Amino acid sequence: MPNITDKVVVITGASSGVGEATARLLAGNGAKVVLGARRKDRIDALVGDITGKGGNALGFKTDVTRRGDVEALVKGAVDKHGRIDAIVNNSGIMPIAPMAALKIEEWDRMIDVNIKGVLYGVAAVLPIMQKQKLGHIINIASVAGFKVWAPGGTVYSATKFAVRALTEGLRMEHRADNIRCTIVSPGAIATELPESSSEEATRKNLREFYKMAIPADSIARAISYAIEQPADVEIGEIVIRPTAQDF
Ligand SMILES: NC(=O)c1ccc[n+]([C@@H]2O[C@H](COP(=O)([O-])OP(=O)(O)OC[C@H]3O[C@@H](n4cnc5c(N)ncnc54)[C@H](OP(=O)(O)O)[C@@H]3O)[C@@H](O)[C@H]2O)c1
Repeated sequence: MPNITDKVVVITGASSGVGEATARLLAGNGAKVVLGARRKDRIDALVGDITGKGGNALGFKTDVTRRGDVEALVKGAVDKHGRIDAIVNNSGIMPIAPMAALKIEEWDRMIDVNIKGVLYGVAAVLPIMQKQKLGHIINIASVAGFKVWAPGGTVYSATKFAVRALTEGLRMEHRADNIRCTIVSPGAIATELPESSSEEATRKNLREFYKMAIPADSIARAISYAIEQPADVEIGEIVIRPTAQDF
């Protein structure tokens, strides 16, 4: 596909859900995907699948809470392909619980993965993209980054508001470097995400809510749409939710 073929695209959280679907779609359209997540067995299987179909994929064990891991992922892309066209900062977790439950470790983890993980991705590509005078940073936020999802999703919402804010600031600061910034905000998408809550009762409620969920490929197509635009066209923000979802 024009404007996707041969683009070097780094994707975090590619071991399942949105990241995996995006890797498959972009690689199927000729992109060179460089994939990271902690579950290396899943990354290896995905790389094997993509390359088995004639696609171009490379995988790394990446924990986005470790800055060095994210740097190694991006370096891996540049060492192999000589440049980086886009990064999809997709890794995320969503442990839902009321504030009064004081799940402080989960608050820490959400901040570490959903905010700092995205920032580490930005930090790893920014100097390279500035030098290239070309690049595209796609950060995955949420509808919970528009409306506070309470009770239960308060801290998750806070992290996604932060993703939207930092991506917009990045866009304003790096227009002159020809770096495009895109915020993709999904609603309920059928992935493993609702299972990241620590309490069974919450997971049960989420499973009920997620009965309306749409496939991860819906988000992959939106990411692909943003990437395939000409370099002077920036898709700033996309919100995708099930038609039946209210918020
Ligand atoms: N599904 C939804 O309804 C929905 C709605 C709004 C926004 N989103 C956002 O979409 C993004 C993708 O989520 P998903 O729905 O595809 O859920 P998912 O299937 O659970 O995928 C999450 C991905 O994040 C990775 N991840 C988690 N912790 C990580 C860490 N420390 N380092 C590196 N990777 C890590 C996981 O890989 P490993 O565990 O292998 O590391 C996994 O590949 C997230 O940012 C999420 O907040 C999803």
